[in-house]
Amino acid sequence: MTSKRVLLTGRHGQLGTECGLLIPPSVEFLALDRPEFDLADLHGIRQAVLDFKPDVLLHTAAWTAVDKAESCEEEALLINAKATEVLAEAVNDLGGRMAYVSTDYVFSGEGSQPWRETDAVSPLNAYGRTKLAGEQALHAHLPQRGHVVRTSWLYGRRGANFVRTMLRLMMEGRDLQVVDDQKGSPTWAGGLGQALWALSESEDAPAILHFTDGGITSWFEFAIAIRELGLENQLSLEASAVRPCSSSAYPTPAKRPSWSPMHFSDAWKGLGIQQVPWRKQLALALPILLQEDHG
Ligand SMILES: NC(=O)c1ccc[n+]([C@@H]2O[C@H](COP(=O)([O-])OP(=O)(O)OC[C@H]3O[C@@H](n4cnc5c(N)ncnc54)[C@H](OP(=O)(O)O)[C@@H]3O)[C@@H](O)[C@H]2O)c1
Repeated sequence: MTSKRVLLTGRHGQLGTECGLLIPPSVEFLALDRPEFDLADLHGIRQAVLDFKPDVLLHTAAWTAVDKAESCEEEALLINAKATEVLAEAVNDLGGRMAYVSTDYVFSGEGSQPWRETDAVSPLNAYGRTKLAGEQALHAHLPQRGHVVRTSWLYGRRGANFVRTMLRLMMEGRDLQVVDDQKGSPTWAGGLGQALWALSESEDAPAILHFTDGGITSWFEFAIAIRELGLENQLSLEASAVRPCSSSAYPTPAKRPSWSPMHFSDAWKGLGIQQVPWRKQLALALPILLQEDHG
């Protein structure tokens, strides 16, 4: 049996890092990132795909600077949409499959039920528009073999994320105000990494899948849980207090969604992937983050 060839973009990102730690046996794996692989170099990224000839491309790299995208939408569009289109074209030429990681920001951010894969999209900011354009580019070139995997509130052992930021500020003894009027589902990047690998094995996964950890919370409640679990892990966080505030107290260039929860796609069950409640997953992930940052 020949081994599957899998190409990963975004090697140093928080999701790419977790994917790179979960490579199944008998996979021929290549992970790329800047500077050798720059999504702005459309010719170069096409050539990189054609050279490696992947059976599956896991595309985790993206312009993720949400606020900066407001003033640089053209540049963000090049990275999130045009580059995705070029990658999808190359994968199609090779007869391969591609997974593109996307976001709840493709939705309006106003709702009361978890977003379904079939719900109408209506991005509320520039980042969301560029990620949606990437989804559309993927499906235009790989209608049968292109998979959009939407996620939210991602945190991993590397990169800038809410959990690592909260822990750092709490360890500095800071008093924190955290928004309580944005609801969503935190997602451990390692769990999503496992899901992407399971997807890479599948020949008949749907065109759009939603993946988050289970349950719905607010950033404030998430911060409280981080504090509680930090204390359980013997961190000195006693000096830090966490209080709720509204989004209006923290205006940002990009509007943020009030409502991010997504329905965990039924298709994951068939791929052997189960949803883990966010708090349980945080308790499992925290020692990994602490080992990385303070071990
Ligand atoms: N973070 C979240 O909460 C969240 C939520 C929903 C969806 N997502 C999606 O999930 C995916 C993974 O997110 P993440 O949190 O792992 O992102 P991340 O930590 O910001 O990593 C992004 C990766 O993309 C790379 N990248 C950026 N611009 C590039 C370019 N021009 N050429 C090549 N590589 C480039 C970065 O490289 P450098 O290190 O060189 O910058 C980095 O390795 C993204 O598609 C994102 O849109 C994220």
